[in-house]
Amino acid sequence: MGMGKEELMKKLEERIRNCQKCPLGQLRTNAVPGAGSYDAKVMFVGEAPGYWEDQRGLPFVGRAGKVLDELLAEIGLSRDEVYITNVVKCRPPGNRDPTEEEIKACAPYLDRQIDIIRPKVIVPLGRHSMRYLLEKFGFKAEPISKIHGKTFRARTLFGEIVIMPTYHPAAALYKPQLLEAIREDFRKLKTLLEEK
Ligand code: SF4
Ligand code: URA
Repeated sequence: MGMGKEELMKKLEERIRNCQKCPLGQLRTNAVPGAGSYDAKVMFVGEAPGYWEDQRGLPFVGRAGKVLDELLAEIGLSRDEVYITNVVKCRPPGNRDPTEEEIKACAPYLDRQIDIIRPKVIVPLGRHSMRYLLEKFGFKAEPISKIHGKTFRARTLFGEIVIMPTYHPAAALYKPQLLEAIREDFRKLKTLLEEK
């Protein structure tokens, strides 16, 4: 018999915590593999850990995380029934954008997490995650302002995954009008999950 999800994910998390595949490995306090349910129907994928995530080894625990918690609560979801991770698992210095090389080195961990969890829906948060995930499944990336809230149906070996990108919750901290747009996308997500 093969290993269960729990065992596979624990092993993967251990590999991420010890990884030195890119220069960010030397700079981190803690790698941030991801958190939540390994049986989640929906996965949220951010960009990379920030200061507090690096300090605690957990995703979205700073100010953007508070926004994400509120958005989840508004559609009746808690953190322990979803899975939350990032494209890049270690913090880029000064919270700069991750480089193409860093994304390329780290994204296989995200690919593996998707294969193990087998979510029905993936919500990329922000343009880096949107670009990586749409292109991974053969779609064309577009400006996030144009495609947030749209659904892309990807075929996988274990069935269909719906990808619905939205803005990064940190964007709402600086642009309140974006919060309304993300809220609306989350309401769409709720409907989507009710069908799944
Ligand atoms: Fe490894 Fe990813 Fe961390 Fe780079 S960012 S060291 S690839 S876990
Ligand atoms: N921003 C992200 O993209 N990910 C986190 O985990 C925290 C902030």
